[in-house]
Amino acid sequence: MVEPVLKWAGGKRQILHEIRACFPPESDVNAYHEPFFGGGALFFKTGPHAPGSSINDINERLMSFYEVVRDDPEDLIELLEGFDGPESNPDPDRDFSKENRKGKEIDQYYYQQRELYNRRPNGEDYNKVEEAALLMYLNRTCYNGLYRENQSGEFNVPIGRHSEANWVQASRILDAHRALQNVNIECGDFSYVLDHASEDDLVYFDPPYKPVSRTSSFVEYSSEEFGPEQQERLCEVAVELNDMGAHVAISNSPPMRELYEYLDEFQVHDIGAKRHINSDSDGRGEVGEIIVTNVPEDNRREKTAYLDQFVKADGGEE
Ligand SMILES: C[S@@+](CC[C@H](N)C(=O)[O-])C[C@H]1O[C@@H](n2cnc3c(N)ncnc32)[C@H](O)[C@@H]1O
Repeated sequence: MVEPVLKWAGGKRQILHEIRACFPPESDVNAYHEPFFGGGALFFKTGPHAPGSSINDINERLMSFYEVVRDDPEDLIELLEGFDGPESNPDPDRDFSKENRKGKEIDQYYYQQRELYNRRPNGEDYNKVEEAALLMYLNRTCYNGLYRENQSGEFNVPIGRHSEANWVQASRILDAHRALQNVNIECGDFSYVLDHASEDDLVYFDPPYKPVSRTSSFVEYSSEEFGPEQQERLCEVAVELNDMGAHVAISNSPPMRELYEYLDEFQVHDIGAKRHINSDSDGRGEVGEIIVTNVPEDNRREKTAYLDQFVKADGGEE
């Protein structure tokens, strides 16, 4: 198992095994696709993946980062090794060592790096590996490993409280580099997968969703970024994938059950474990989730592993 390189909101550390248990056995799967990649916890947990597999996210800088991890890991590690601690003084030899573009004083190294990252990456001095290193540095030293942009697309998360932040993570980068070989890295809307997947491929969707309270309804559960309309579109894409013979699994929040429970080809399961998420109000909370899948219950990874045990045991006794 490869560890994710980045921390990412919505990462599924605690329930990885429950989701994976709904996947079909590896021998039934051709390529693997993950259209809402984020930190890619499932991708890294379940590899290696067949050539032709793909990952995608709508976040351009994120997918550019993974291209650098796949194609240029040594340069990325070298750049990361050159960074100072987040609370150190700003580097006087680099831009923004005293104030940001808005004239606000910069007194910590972290905020200088954040300002550098927020230069729009379209000038002559744009460097893809440098931008990837800044993303990784900020991800590992910012508050809670969050990725959040303001309306102008600027990364605006404050410095985190780390006694010993480790922003280099060379072995994770090299492991991820190997896991990403022969994988197509896309950047756009999740529906790209209709052009990439084919029969017997496995597609795992993990769309963004916010915590919901017991009293939330479908209508109340809406975010500008990924509201009910997008959820319906996701359901349509899942149906199309099912029709082409692909295996589909979708993580979602409990109110989305109503989109799938009347479709014969899909089953909806509650995932018992709780996971920590950041809520808007008080920082951290716990939510239940559902997993929707078209993989028949008797052909899931967990079930087949269980049956394999008996086949092996029977064989041994003969
Ligand atoms: C819940 S996170 C995925 C977390 C991931 N499973 C992990 O292990 O870290 C959802 C991701 O969907 C991306 N996203 C939002 N809208 C999208 C869209 N329309 N198409 C593709 N990706 C989208 C976000 O940028 C975010 O990274």
